[in-house]
Amino acid sequence: MSAESGSVVVAMDGPSGSGKSSTARGVAARLGLRYLDTGAQFRAMTVWMLRHHVDLSDPEAVAAAADRPELASGTDPRHPTICVDGEDVAESIRSDETTRSVSAVASVPAVRKRLLELQRSIIGAGGIVVEGRDIGSVVAPDADVKIYLTADSAARAARRTAEQRGADVAATEADLQRRDRIDSTRAAAPLTIPDDAVHIDTTPYTLAEVIDQVVALVRES
Ligand code: DC
Repeated sequence: MSAESGSVVVAMDGPSGSGKSSTARGVAARLGLRYLDTGAQFRAMTVWMLRHHVDLSDPEAVAAAADRPELASGTDPRHPTICVDGEDVAESIRSDETTRSVSAVASVPAVRKRLLELQRSIIGAGGIVVEGRDIGSVVAPDADVKIYLTADSAARAARRTAEQRGADVAATEADLQRRDRIDSTRAAAPLTIPDDAVHIDTTPYTLAEVIDQVVALVRES
């Protein structure tokens, strides 16, 4: 199996709250692979745009700025990092303002093109679990294992609310649905289930059970 040769690429896609990040990190840690959170890169790009007062309602303004931020992703699954222009932005990428704004930035083709190049350079010779929305379809169409995770909308909202102390479940569910709609219907690299992906609905399972299922699929590959 390619996991032992260290060159395996695992693509993990799905909407927010599906358990993607925890699963991807857990699988990477278990198998001694690197981990890349591409959502964090779109969020970091958004933090930079907000700080530089780029008008996010103007796709041309966003496109014109897309090459300016210097982004760096650390790929240790036990301690992933994300920096913009040398600054650690791990907290700012999770702010409400960033979460509200990121879909507008992620729908601009110039942003996706810039990040696609960065993502492919990080994937390099493999040995990595990559999570996002378009990994199996666009970023790594030749990935050895493609997983598509979902969970029902109420379960996703409950998980996200638990992560963001004090958040309101109904408002979180409405925001998840709004972002899913934008992410699934945008023209550039929409969230889709690749034909060759294994679809896992995580609603009835614990995190440990989902990690076990994915580790087994990687070992079989
Ligand atoms: O997974 P997340 O919530 O951190 O992702 C943040 C946003 O980035 C989400 O609205 C969709 C977008 N995204 C994307 O378009 N393509 C990816 N590969 C990863 C994330």
